[in-house]
Amino acid sequence: MQNREPYMQKIIGNRYTKTKASFEKSLCLFLYQLGKKGKSLKTCLNISGLGMQFKGVKAVQNVSMNLEEGKLYALIGTNGAGKTTIINMISGVLKPTAGTICFQETDITGMRPDRIAKMGVTRTYQNLRLFKKMTVLDNVLMGAQMHSTCGAWESVFQTSRFRENEKSMREHARKMLDIMGIAAFEKEFAGSLPYGNQRKLEIARILASNPKLLLLDEPAAGMNPQESHELVDIIRGIQKEFGLTILLIEHDMKVVMNLCEYIYCMAAGEVIAEGGPEAIRNNPRVIEAYLGKRASHVTN
Ligand SMILES: Nc1ncnc2c1ncn2[C@@H]1O[C@H](COP(=O)(O)OP(=O)(O)O)[C@@H](O)[C@H]1O
Ligand SMILES: [Mg+2]
Repeated sequence: MQNREPYMQKIIGNRYTKTKASFEKSLCLFLYQLGKKGKSLKTCLNISGLGMQFKGVKAVQNVSMNLEEGKLYALIGTNGAGKTTIINMISGVLKPTAGTICFQETDITGMRPDRIAKMGVTRTYQNLRLFKKMTVLDNVLMGAQMHSTCGAWESVFQTSRFRENEKSMREHARKMLDIMGIAAFEKEFAGSLPYGNQRKLEIARILASNPKLLLLDEPAAGMNPQESHELVDIIRGIQKEFGLTILLIEHDMKVVMNLCEYIYCMAAGEVIAEGGPEAIRNNPRVIEAYLGKRASHVTN
């Protein structure tokens, strides 16, 4: 027995070492997988100390925001609060006078709008920007074109790769029109569509560019209640289907409260409150900021 003990210990020790090694390996793998799965909770956009000054007018000051991937955020505030200026800075239309903007760990502060769009940050405008004399389908193709892999010479010589690429872009564009519920109008001129459908077309166009982050500046503005109700359902649907991160500027508090997981409220260029719908609804500063309009906007 006495002779066997060191031998047993050796075996147990070896086993222990082996078990420990395999446990550590599994743990590493588990943590790695967790990291991969946890990707959906990664930061999509981080804004820090952002500021914009127009000849002495502080349109935006010291704004910080953190948007996680795959979530729907709202940016609310009265007219002139600085909401559009924020989107203009994120999308590169305006160069911030202070602060930083990071998209998926890349500093995009002051980058050119086309480069930012190519990275997957897309936006709609408060005032519609469509090619009104082009067909609905061609408008969406303009969005899809951004990721075309064909060079100019391939389009001149109409190579088979170019034709293949065109075909798949068309299919993709039609799918986006279908998602937005306006596929039936693909051959009509964009300008001939009713206003609500033009808004939907604008979203179809940016969807066709395979965005990662959607910045929607009052997409329901000018729509009747039924149209805006439909749009809310569509936004919810596309966010789920494409796993997009969305920042929505919207005045209709019912829409915001029902749709968004997290809300930033701005007044006079600053974020005065942030949080989930319930916290925002009951925030005295938010209610106060809206009192000049209609407090029921917030409390409803
Ligand atoms: N290009 C600009 N030049 C000068 N002032 C501007 C410009 N863009 C916005 N502003 C001012 O910045 C403030 C915020 O505007 P904006 O971001 O459009 O507000 P919101 O979208 O919240 O209504 C307003 O006072 C507006 O007049
Ligand atoms: Mg605005």
